[in-house]
Amino acid sequence: MIELKTNHIYHGDCIDILKELPSKSVDLIFADPPYNMQLKKELYRPNNTKVDGVNDDWDKFSSFQDYDNFCISWLEECKRALKDTGTIWVIGSYHNIYRIGNIMLNLGYWILNDVTWHKSNPMPNFLGTRFTNATETLLWCSKGENYKKYTFNHKLMKQYNGGKQMTSVWNISLCIGNARIKGEDGKKAHSTQKPEELLKRVILSTTKQDDIVLDPFFGTGTTGAVAKKLGRKFIGIEREKKYIQIAKTRLKNINSLLPESSWIETLKEEQPKVPFVNLVRKNIIGIGEFLYTPIRYNKQAEVLSNGNLHYEDTNGSIHKIGAIIQQTSSCNGWKFWHIFKNSKLLLLDDLRMQYIRTEYKI
Ligand SMILES: C[S@@+](CC[C@H](N)C(=O)[O-])C[C@H]1O[C@@H](n2cnc3c(N)ncnc32)[C@H](O)[C@@H]1O
Repeated sequence: MIELKTNHIYHGDCIDILKELPSKSVDLIFADPPYNMQLKKELYRPNNTKVDGVNDDWDKFSSFQDYDNFCISWLEECKRALKDTGTIWVIGSYHNIYRIGNIMLNLGYWILNDVTWHKSNPMPNFLGTRFTNATETLLWCSKGENYKKYTFNHKLMKQYNGGKQMTSVWNISLCIGNARIKGEDGKKAHSTQKPEELLKRVILSTTKQDDIVLDPFFGTGTTGAVAKKLGRKFIGIEREKKYIQIAKTRLKNINSLLPESSWIETLKEEQPKVPFVNLVRKNIIGIGEFLYTPIRYNKQAEVLSNGNLHYEDTNGSIHKIGAIIQQTSSCNGWKFWHIFKNSKLLLLDDLRMQYIRTEYKI
C-alpha cells in the first residue's frame, strides 16, 4: 500500500496505482475512462477540414474483450478503494457505457441514477448518416443494494436548480472558448476535456466539504479543479505526463474557493427570493456601478436606481439584459453578472447570498 496523498496526481497506470490505495479510503470516484471509440479512419467535414476527434493512443484497445478486462480491473479496484458511504460516477458515450454498465452490475454496484448529459452545442454528424449524437451518460452508483448511507445533497441541488428538483437530464455545453485548455500551437490540449459545470453538479450533489474525490482518468484535471474550488480534496491518476503537466498548471492557478462553498451546505431552508433592487436600496451595490459579464462576452452594464441595468440603448432586469447578451430566451442574472468589490470580481449570486445571510440571519 502507498500513503494516501490528497491534492496529488499519481503518474502511472490507474490499475497499478488503484491497487496500492488503502481500502475504503475515498468518498467519491469520478471516472471518465477511455471510450474505446474503435475509429477506423480519419473523419473530414464537408469543407475537407479534418475533424479533431478522439484518436489518441490511450483510447485504443485490441478488442472489446481487452477493453472489458481493463474495465473490470479498474472498477474492481475502485470498489475496494471506495468507503461504504461513498459512490462512483462513470461517464461514457454509446460506444462504451453499455459495456461498463453491464460490468458494474456484475460487480455488484447499484445504479442510483443514469444521468444524461445533453450537449447544447454538439458536434454535427458531418456525413449525414445518423442523428447528431448529442448526449453522454453518467452512471451514478453505490457499492451495492444495501449501501444506503451515501451522500446526496437533495436540498442543495434543488436550490442550485432554482427551487425545482433537479432531473437526471443535464443541459450543459461542451467545453469550448476560454475554458478549453489550449497547447502552444493554439489547438485543444486534450481531446475530451469535460466542462466544469458537469463536475460541479457531480461533486456538489454527492460530497461534503473536505471529502476526498478520486479520479483515475484525470486528464486535464477538471475533477481536481472543481474539487479545489468547492473545498474538497482530490486524488488524480493519469498515465500521460503531458496531461499531468497541464493539470498541475491549471490547479496551481486556482487559489480560492468558490465563495458559495462556505454557505452552500449549511443552508437548511429554501432561499428566499431577493429582488436585485434590494441590494441597491441597501447600498450593497451602488447606483451607477458597473456589472460585468463572464470574460467570453466582455460586456458591462450600468446599475440604475430602480434595480434595472442600462446596456447599450436598452434598460432591463439583470436577467433580461443577460439573456440579450447571450442571445438566449432566458438567463439567471444572479449567476451571470459579476461586480468588483475590494478589487476582486465577485459573482452577483455570492452578494445575494451574503445579503440573505445577513437579512435572514442564516
Ligand atoms: C476521457 S479522458 C479524461 C478527461 C478528463 N475528464 C478531463 O476533463 O480532462 C481519459 C484520460 O485517461 C487517461 N488514461 C487512459 N488510460 C489510462 C490508464 N490505464 N491509467 C491512467 N490514465 C489513463 C488518458 O491519458 C486520458 O487523459
